[in-house]
Amino acid sequence: MESINWSDLSFGYMKTDYNVRCYYRDGKWGELEVSSSEIINIHMAATCLHYGQESFEGLKAFKGKDGKIRVFRMDENAKRMQSSSRGIKMAELPVEKFEEAIRKVVKLNERFVPPYESGAALYIRPLMIGLGAQVGVKPAPEYMFMVFVTPVGPYFKGGFKPSKVCIMRDYDRAAPHGTGTIKVGGNYAASLVAGEKAKELGYAAVLYLDPKEKKYLDECGPANFFGIRGNSYITPQSNSILPSITNKSLQQLAEDMGLKVERRPVPFDEIATFEEAAECGTAAVIAPISQIDDIDMNKSYIISKDGKPGPVCEKLYNKLRGIQYGDEPDTYNWVTTIE
Ligand SMILES: Cc1ncc(COP(=O)(O)O)c(C=O)c1O
Repeated sequence: MESINWSDLSFGYMKTDYNVRCYYRDGKWGELEVSSSEIINIHMAATCLHYGQESFEGLKAFKGKDGKIRVFRMDENAKRMQSSSRGIKMAELPVEKFEEAIRKVVKLNERFVPPYESGAALYIRPLMIGLGAQVGVKPAPEYMFMVFVTPVGPYFKGGFKPSKVCIMRDYDRAAPHGTGTIKVGGNYAASLVAGEKAKELGYAAVLYLDPKEKKYLDECGPANFFGIRGNSYITPQSNSILPSITNKSLQQLAEDMGLKVERRPVPFDEIATFEEAAECGTAAVIAPISQIDDIDMNKSYIISKDGKPGPVCEKLYNKLRGIQYGDEPDTYNWVTTIE
């Protein structure tokens, strides 16, 4: 067996031993199948290739000090994938089947779960595609669900540090009543131009405004947004953002810490009043924001004057990571131990 340098891992793809697959045919889901091939063989007229019938999820498995492997809130990912299916007319996978697939793929690839000390994790990528030869714009007759895993490094290699994000008013990632609330590939294709431009300009992410009025904050390219002011955790409510499982968890933890959670439309100029701001999602848990540049308006909002994460972000980050790695009590039964 090759040895893996856990400290060198980035957010990339590394081949693991097995993946799990399941087909929807004749109106029902079949049994889970295990494969050691990274290749799928599909028809060139499959609807996923032409009309974007594709959805995916992202979650992680963590190895604790006790050597146990824990997966975080997979039922929430299962339910969100069902909501994606409803949003683009794909077959809905039962929550139990989703969870069984996750347990199986993690167990089969146990040797790829990074050790506790590395701060790395096993990234789990479930996806679903429409299959079957068809050229008309209509839902596919068949679907394939699969899950692969790959070890990924810690998001913050040089420590928990804030970065800059930008507002780009000429781009939207989703339409006002479009597919922004579900996790489908098309949203990410639509975010690539602005995302790459932001990266070239030295920003960690694009902070999108609501696509209808450009008046309210939406979310970042691959993460939700929250701000801290006084005793409040403030996060946007919108018809065009993905319901982040990390954000949902942080809202609960914030409340437990005595903060007031405000989930509501957030006028973008309110950012000038935030004492802390951050992106949140599975990848980083929390990625604090030091500065927000409204590029087209030539305006900068400095959030962190000393370039350090704020105390509330730090506390929430440590708490949630602690639960994920098994260092903190799992009061809400968010964690599944893989036996
Ligand atoms: C657009 C978008 N928003 C938010 C998130 C964060 O969601 P979660 O916390 O469930 O990873 C993600 C990542 O999944 C995302 O792609």
